[in-house]
Amino acid sequence: MRQVYINGAYMPETKAKISVFDRGFLFGDAVYEVTYVIDRKLVDYQGHMTRLRRSLGEIDMSLAMTDADLLAAHRELVKLNDIDEGLVYLEVTRGAADRDFIFPDASVPNTVVLFTQKKSLMDAPAATRGLNVLTVEDQRWERCDIKTVQLLYPSLAKTRGKAQGADDVWFQRDGYVTEGSSNNAYIVSAEGKIITHETNNDILHGITRKAVMDTLADLGLDFEERPFLVTEALEAAEAFSTSSSGLVTPVVSIDGKQIGDAKPGPVSKQLRQKYIEGIRRRAI
Ligand code: PDD
Repeated sequence: MRQVYINGAYMPETKAKISVFDRGFLFGDAVYEVTYVIDRKLVDYQGHMTRLRRSLGEIDMSLAMTDADLLAAHRELVKLNDIDEGLVYLEVTRGAADRDFIFPDASVPNTVVLFTQKKSLMDAPAATRGLNVLTVEDQRWERCDIKTVQLLYPSLAKTRGKAQGADDVWFQRDGYVTEGSSNNAYIVSAEGKIITHETNNDILHGITRKAVMDTLADLGLDFEERPFLVTEALEAAEAFSTSSSGLVTPVVSIDGKQIGDAKPGPVSKQLRQKYIEGIRRRAI
């Protein structure tokens, strides 16, 4: 049975329990990270922990665990669950306290949970097939840069998208694409320029995004960080998304309109390959 981590202890998933008063449960008062594991090693782990600390800071939440404790917990779970390839999920909540909109005293201990998921992302069928994406209104709050567990809208939007035959949804504000339901969104123009939303409060500052931007610079590919219109995306030569759970995934249609020749394009394929080569080298 899968072993999980909860507040300093490792135990079978059926034994782990959380209080009904946990603020993660009552208020969505929690932040999280998802780290990709390849060859039993953590990918861009430091980036995830830096972003975790930033998310915590933005919502005035303290965390008693040190970076060394967190790393040890990630590694122990990978070992206990024999994860050759997959994901480690980490969630930190503000802990359990009688229900009140005002945050409890900082002395209330956090709830910290980690679990793993075995998954083959490297060979995901979506990478060779490409995704069909629908654009929907971005109805999330205005601090999408904070990785909170308030994921109801993305979950609702993706479920509705799936019911309409799509693989994923891309959010748009005033006609401009912000990002995907759980990934960053990109287009490649007819001239070969890669365009993606700049890192402000409208999007999550993806760890995969950062690695892909570094790869673009290394390859000498032309890119621009700015919002792009849905109408611009429909005319793009290629499109793709990036995330820890999808790596670099080509998009082959948007709102029913085929992108390029409806097959993963050369830029997306090259970036996925270079990204995978890079993470295999740097994983710890
Ligand atoms: N989601 N944008 C959103 C809204 C996300 O939820 C994610 C990640 C990303 C990509 O970030 P990164 O490259 O750091 O994974 C962008 C994770 C995988 C999830 O919620 O499961």
